[in-house]
Amino acid sequence: MTVSASSRHLSSDLALFRRRLLQNPRQVSAIAPSSRTLARAMTLGLGPQTGRVIEFGPGTGRFTEAILDRGVPPENVTLFELDAEFVAHLRKKFPGVTVHQAGAETAAALVDPGVTAVISGLPLLSMPDGLRQAIVGAAFAVLAPRGRYVQFTYGPSPPLPAETISALGLTVNKGHKIWANLPPARVYRFRRA
Ligand SMILES: C[S@@+](CC[C@H](N)C(=O)[O-])C[C@H]1O[C@@H](n2cnc3c(N)ncnc32)[C@H](O)[C@@H]1O
Repeated sequence: MTVSASSRHLSSDLALFRRRLLQNPRQVSAIAPSSRTLARAMTLGLGPQTGRVIEFGPGTGRFTEAILDRGVPPENVTLFELDAEFVAHLRKKFPGVTVHQAGAETAAALVDPGVTAVISGLPLLSMPDGLRQAIVGAAFAVLAPRGRYVQFTYGPSPPLPAETISALGLTVNKGHKIWANLPPARVYRFRRA
């Protein structure tokens, strides 16, 4: 893609993001799409041989782009996004990728187990407790035994409460602070202990 095509692409993604944020602030729950630096950190370790990858809450697809840039084939990528406008945008932008207009909490009903990674762009900490548990439960229901759940957060504490981490028997890997994001964010990787 040329520089001007890429910047046109970025500004139309930003306009769509802002429109959806104004329409549904609670659901979108971020002031801008994530940066490319955060997207690279979220997708660290993925590659052509990774196997199946699921993404929760892709929005305009910043993390989806990074997953595909890592070499994961589109047919191995499945997205769960609630917003109909984002879904239409994602289907057009990423041919070959499966896009469900559905809540992340329904993933276990729509995807076979054995997934290598769930990459989540969801505003997990601002969700009600029951929904958050349903989402993380659905992720671990489809993840392979060594599969990982990757989640960023803007705040100082982990994006999952300690009770959820211990109830699911998870280990946590805390990444570096990503300053090149608005606001700065940190990536956490969760696996079964
Ligand atoms: C903070 S935005 C993140 C967008 C993108 N991942 C990024 O980082 O730029 C959160 C996204 O999650 C979506 N979302 C919120 N609740 C959801 C749910 N239960 N299931 C799937 N998507 C959801 C919103 O519509 C929005 O697109």
